[in-house]
Amino acid sequence: MIWYPYQQMKTMKEPYKIIDAEGVYLKTSEQEMIDSISSWWSVIHGYRHPVLTEAIKSQADHFSHVMLGGLTHEPVQKLADKLKDFLPGDLDYCFFSDSGSVAVEVALKMALQYYVNRGEMERTKVLSLTHAYHGDTFKTMEVGDDEDYHFILEAYGKKKNVIHIPTQIPALEQAFENYHQELNCFIVEPLLQGAGGMRMYDISFLVKARELCDRYGVLLIFDEVATGFGRTGNRFVADLVQPDILVLGKALTGGYIGHAVTVANRKVYHGFYSDDPDKALMHGPTFMGNALACSVALKSIELFEDEDYMTKIRRIEAITKHEMEGFTDERIQEVRIMGGCVCVEVKEAAALQGYQQFAYERGVFSRPFLNCMYAMVPYIISEEELVRVLDTMKAWFR
Ligand SMILES: Cc1ncc(COP(=O)(O)O)c(C=O)c1O
Repeated sequence: MIWYPYQQMKTMKEPYKIIDAEGVYLKTSEQEMIDSISSWWSVIHGYRHPVLTEAIKSQADHFSHVMLGGLTHEPVQKLADKLKDFLPGDLDYCFFSDSGSVAVEVALKMALQYYVNRGEMERTKVLSLTHAYHGDTFKTMEVGDDEDYHFILEAYGKKKNVIHIPTQIPALEQAFENYHQELNCFIVEPLLQGAGGMRMYDISFLVKARELCDRYGVLLIFDEVATGFGRTGNRFVADLVQPDILVLGKALTGGYIGHAVTVANRKVYHGFYSDDPDKALMHGPTFMGNALACSVALKSIELFEDEDYMTKIRRIEAITKHEMEGFTDERIQEVRIMGGCVCVEVKEAAALQGYQQFAYERGVFSRPFLNCMYAMVPYIISEEELVRVLDTMKAWFR
């Protein structure tokens, strides 16, 4: 029997059974629906994309997987080379893993060990944001600030090694003043905090964070598992402000296979590069650098570049603004739009009860959470399809 995610199994409603998918459409035996959330924000090219499917098939004809311990292969080498060119600055050193959560774990471990390798043993603390979400594994839950995980605090006591601050510059300055000697890193979802409620904030906060990290020698980590590959209207927020460590997942493979990467800059990499075996990064997921995942990720990035996805994303943002800006209802708190993300925040979560089925009946798949009704569509969506998604959101309030 399947144990489904984030669900009380006893009261859970029967999930929609998908029997096929193509383009932006998911198909059940009775309905075709636009996937307005791109399978948890990952399927940026839509389903059954011929180029991506072919990449997997042709790699599978050779080998699907070999471990990276003592072995290497062309797909992983090509992907690492591609990422080196594709990512800004000296974010050149790719550590692959099988999910976003694990890639964040690797980033946090890297930041801690970077200082241990330098003999700075007192830098044990992580600075993080309120409402942060970085995954479901233990350390990512700890640096996150998801109410559903606060039982962890109750079980283990207060988080000694994590400090949470809001996305406000005075709080940032204060945290650095108080804790800079003990901090190893500051981790953020840059510009857009996804699972914490689709919260958007200004780039000036990140510019200030970079300045303070430089001043006090603290590593800056951007968790772009959700924001990477165009979601905020930037290819990566790292194009605007460069972190020391960048984490990518979800759309890395166009949502075809779970894979992720923790990318370090030269400074971080050289903090491990040594004749001393104790200074090596001791991590190695079985499926890191999986050949199918790397082959499809490479093609996904090529499509992103060759088909000018940034123009597609700007078009999605413009249409969304045209359709949604100024839309209001007494139940709505705020409508927020950034790049390929739109969120209608309601005052009471109860105002969204029943919306999923309402949308399903109108041919749209949606999954509201907290107080958020939102869309993060595949970038290949047509104008007509996008308007249908947005009209469905508006229709709910009429
Ligand atoms: C910002 C961010 N980091 C990490 C993760 C975890 O990724 P995964 O579900 O692949 O473990 C998510 C997933 O939603 C995310 O949004």
